[in-house]
Amino acid sequence: MATTTTTVTITGAGGQIGYALLFRIAAGDMLGPDRRIRLKLLEIPQGVRAAEGAALELQDCAFSLLESVEVTDSPATAFDGCQIALLVGARPRGPGMERADLLAANAGIFGPQGAALNAGADDDVRIVVVGNPANTNALIAAASAPDIPSDRFTALTRLDHNRAVGQLAAELGVRADEVEGVAIWGNHSASQFPDVSHATVHGVPVVDALAERLGGPEQATTWLDDEFIPRVAKRGAEIIEVRGSSSVASAANAAIEHVRDDQGGTGEAWTSAAVVSRGEYGVPEGLVCSFPVRSDGSGYRVVEGLRLDDRARARFDASVAELEAERTAVRDLGVL
Ligand code: NAD
Ligand code: LMR
Repeated sequence: MATTTTTVTITGAGGQIGYALLFRIAAGDMLGPDRRIRLKLLEIPQGVRAAEGAALELQDCAFSLLESVEVTDSPATAFDGCQIALLVGARPRGPGMERADLLAANAGIFGPQGAALNAGADDDVRIVVVGNPANTNALIAAASAPDIPSDRFTALTRLDHNRAVGQLAAELGVRADEVEGVAIWGNHSASQFPDVSHATVHGVPVVDALAERLGGPEQATTWLDDEFIPRVAKRGAEIIEVRGSSSVASAANAAIEHVRDDQGGTGEAWTSAAVVSRGEYGVPEGLVCSFPVRSDGSGYRVVEGLRLDDRARARFDASVAELEAERTAVRDLGVL
């Protein structure tokens, strides 16, 4: 029996990921069977009809948990009373666009949305940024919301985490839920570092299980360096090449799991999410960086004290350098 109502705002709700998110959220996959949902869908004017169409279909599902659906092109309306925000709508990179152009275009989206969250969101709001470049978009939104504690802002690297688990499960011939302790460090980009050095399968270190399966430790290292890491880090591009457009259902699934675990807790297991660095592992403060994280239900906290060897550290540092370069580019635009 549902007892409370939660206001969930989804930006870019008329887009692909939005369409994959809405029905699962309304069915209770994100917040469970005890929480009714008030959906607020934000679109730009060109996207409003698509969001309105999705709203009609939501009505036709007659979900018992869904209290209301509101479609708007006003950030102030969309974020008024918002308790959970999924910031999906973003400007994708187009032909001839440079990274700086993308950052500038997205600063024009995530700056005003951060300000609207600051003005109208619930005191306990939690925000996850999905739209790319997700880490730096979250940085921009957080900087534009000075009254919201920065640890409420996160960016999605759960998809990278799940991709890493999926690759390991396939290689080891086990189910995905038998693999634990994977970590994604750095940026949601090809520079990320998917790390298996703390991962286990049935309590056995994954590196040992790989060595057993592939014929020795050297073969395991070669597979990790030459196949696993690049495949996970470039999986987004692989999906675009094979499907003809970027990942949708897997991204929506990851966003739902990100919020579910943030709100419901991870227990002793950890997952990966990009959070605002407080200097953990030497990452400059304020960068939105992916780490292994746990939540007790009150938000993600970095799992500290994990050992990174020199090779791992070099990979992580390279991704952090990319995040710093993005922050510098945004600062140069006068946004931060
Ligand atoms: P899409 O183009 O199908 O949908 C995006 C929607 O956002 C469109 O309907 C557009 O009208 C809307 N939009 C644009 N600007 C907006 C604004 N200012 N306010 C509200 N809505 C706005 O794209 P998609 O496939 O749904 O992907 C959305 C984003 O998610 C992209 O940036 C994509 O690169 C990113 N993505 C991230 C991950 C991840 O793991 N972090 C995974 C997959 C995709
Ligand atoms: C993904 O990881 O699938 C998305 O970020 C889309 C992309 O551009 O790779």
